[in-house]
Amino acid sequence: MLLDEYLAEAAALQSELDKRLDALEPGQRVDAVKGMLKDWRQRQDELQRSITAVPPAERREAGAALNALKQHFEAALAAYGRRAVVGHGGPVVDLTLPARERWRGGVHPVTQVIDEIREIFRELGFTVAIGPEAETEWHNFTALNFPADHPAMDLHDTLYLDDGVLLRTHTSPVQIRVLQQHTPPVRVLVPGTVYRRDFFDASHAPAFAQVEGLAVDEGVTFVDLKATLTTFARRFFGSTKTRFRPSYFPFTEPSAEMDVECQLCSGSGCASCKQSGWMEILGSGMVHPKVLTAAGVDAERYTGWAFGMGPGRIAMLRYGIPDIRILYESDMRFLEQVNR
Ligand code: DAH
Repeated sequence: MLLDEYLAEAAALQSELDKRLDALEPGQRVDAVKGMLKDWRQRQDELQRSITAVPPAERREAGAALNALKQHFEAALAAYGRRAVVGHGGPVVDLTLPARERWRGGVHPVTQVIDEIREIFRELGFTVAIGPEAETEWHNFTALNFPADHPAMDLHDTLYLDDGVLLRTHTSPVQIRVLQQHTPPVRVLVPGTVYRRDFFDASHAPAFAQVEGLAVDEGVTFVDLKATLTTFARRFFGSTKTRFRPSYFPFTEPSAEMDVECQLCSGSGCASCKQSGWMEILGSGMVHPKVLTAAGVDAERYTGWAFGMGPGRIAMLRYGIPDIRILYESDMRFLEQVNR
């Protein structure tokens, strides 16, 4: 066999291979494609064997052509694999890359707690209201019956902006805003962020979430408060025992704090509940007549009850979180633990 013939056969094999690969649908498995080219590969083997027919002086060149053909085969096959999916001219997709791990989004534990509280109160007939975070001193304190010299109003406790405006220290001013806009019966739940001039340490944060509740109607009594909040605690915590302790807030009279059996020790006493077996979860009380009057509601005709709680604290109790700062750090290891 002459060198020219040998080279011509190698060139013919190469162009046939290119044509056949071009004609193939993209996206087939590379081993399957190799199988379809079995006859082609047999011809390549024959070409390899027939090198002995080439005159010895020209075999070196014939061998180089054969090697080039073999390399072309591997490269053309790999190129076919990359062409998959989109096909000619489109973006190259390398199907041999390992799959990328998906990022699953999650819901922050404090948001989870707020969502559950909302759902329970929605079923009890409460709608959601929100109010501004930059609030007037009048809505935040005065209308809520805080005396002018109350320590909460101190520059050391409250973040003042200017001209009688401050960052609200609680969600209670939204009670006033709701009552100014709506005639009772009113039943609202108010989630929101509140601000206090506190150091950021294990148990304090300068900005944190609160959920406020308010129910005002004719004939509303302390029984409604107790029954509703007890129902809420049973639903939220399971079959937990509750207790009410007398307390004081300027905007409620009488006032009470509600405790539930400690979630971590089931009431037997642990470090988290300071051996008491109880955890305080909210403040509450009958809306003070002065508050109703300040909001323009007829306090002779209507009565109401209200509560305020900290979902961050509840999330800490539920998940056994020892330091409040963990709730603000967005550490993926923590967020994954509470999102299973
Ligand atoms: N506003 C109170 C606070 O920030 C919480 C609170 C207590 C709200 C009693 C209420 C309530 O509506 O009745 O600590």
